[in-house]
Amino acid sequence: GTAPNGCPVSPQAAEFDPFENAYQLDPAEALRWSRDQEPVFYSPKLGYWVVSRYADVKAIFRDNRIFSPSIALEKITPVSQAAQDTLKRYGYAMHRTLVNEDEPAHMERRRALMKSFELEELAHHEPMVRRLTRAYLDRLIDQGEADLVDEMLWEIPLTVALHFLGVPEEDMDTLREYSIAHTVNTWGRPSPEEQVAVADSVGRFWQYAGKVLEKMRQDPSGHGWMKYAIRRQRELPEVVTDSYLHSMMMAGIVAAHETTAHASANMLRLLLESREVWEDVCANPSLIPNAVEECLRLSGSVAAWRRIATADAWIGDTFIPKGAKLLIVSASANHDERHFENPDVLDIYRDNTTDHLTFGYGSHQCMGKNLARMEMRIFLEEFTRRLPHMELAPDQTFTFVPNTSFRGPEHLWVRWDPSRNPERHDA
Ligand code: HEM
Repeated sequence: GTAPNGCPVSPQAAEFDPFENAYQLDPAEALRWSRDQEPVFYSPKLGYWVVSRYADVKAIFRDNRIFSPSIALEKITPVSQAAQDTLKRYGYAMHRTLVNEDEPAHMERRRALMKSFELEELAHHEPMVRRLTRAYLDRLIDQGEADLVDEMLWEIPLTVALHFLGVPEEDMDTLREYSIAHTVNTWGRPSPEEQVAVADSVGRFWQYAGKVLEKMRQDPSGHGWMKYAIRRQRELPEVVTDSYLHSMMMAGIVAAHETTAHASANMLRLLLESREVWEDVCANPSLIPNAVEECLRLSGSVAAWRRIATADAWIGDTFIPKGAKLLIVSASANHDERHFENPDVLDIYRDNTTDHLTFGYGSHQCMGKNLARMEMRIFLEEFTRRLPHMELAPDQTFTFVPNTSFRGPEHLWVRWDPSRNPERHDA
């Protein structure tokens, strides 16, 4: 076959399938060949150009004029008419949010809505994150084993996300179903039957977001990003529009929740798989912030992001025609030996860890990164203090919801001997 730039498609490029096991289990490893031999290639199975090296991925993130983020939330698998009809029945109209907005509208909105992400504002949420983490740990501390995803790591980031947005905590299980549906809808490859069920959940998620927004409009005072956005709408109605608020409500829950839940599960798995590092961190909590960052590099929760070329362009030595869709694989970039020494090693003393691209880069870089880091830091502080002797349950196979972008294990079983819990021995 031939790629849209006229070059032949290599056998490895022809075979590449991000919905298959290799990429799901370890996207960086699945693209090692590409980093080495063909750092930009056209994937006929996906219909996207795949970019795997650090310098290229970063350059694409940096230039959001030539490489527009407008397709960031587009369905990666074209959906059936039946699924589209289902979405239509719910009046689904997810439109622009920050993450897929072009300039100049994007920067105007980003600036208008930035305040809630500043460190002083985030400080309001810290005691709540601490309290929640302790309460969830109290519930499982004497069990001796737990699935940390089901029993804690999914719900706390969801609760924090709702607090951050200013949404009353309701119906967590429904929201869990909704957000998985959104992931599959956006980055997955559902079968035609699944597509209708997924569309149904996404449609209900959309309506739910609309209802919450209406309720919030009645009293938009107090902390919470959405409340702040509603207040900003009064000052800047043409910048913060109604359609924008509704999309932001739904996208905000997903952006803040699943990303952080997955990142936390990836982090604990990675540290427990590297026992010496785990023990170092338990012995010296000042290592925690760097450990968090290194885990975000080595096993981030956003494996790949998307851009579309608005003009003919070169990426390294590869010519890309206007209209080309790009899958820029940050998970691969983060393992690029051209930028990170011994890239596959978990090294919490690394001095350039924060160069990782898990939060993207440039003008769209994740606004919630410090909230996510705070949650992950607090999880690690509490786990290393209260369950330093916990270990991964042996013989578990990790499973992932097949998709290109959001990555974290569906379950994470750990075990420990409760009689060794430090708090039973501390005077
Ligand atoms: C954008 C990752 C947590 C809110 C992004 C982008 C990525 C990302 C890859 C796109 C960046 C780009 O295009 O350059 C992550 C990861 C997280 C996380 C890995 C957790 C570990 C959060 C949280 C929030 C949040 C907790 C909200 C409270 C946003 C927003 C944007 C964004 C609003 C859009 C920014 C813009 O386009 O200007 N995030 N995110 N994220 N994220 Fe996050």
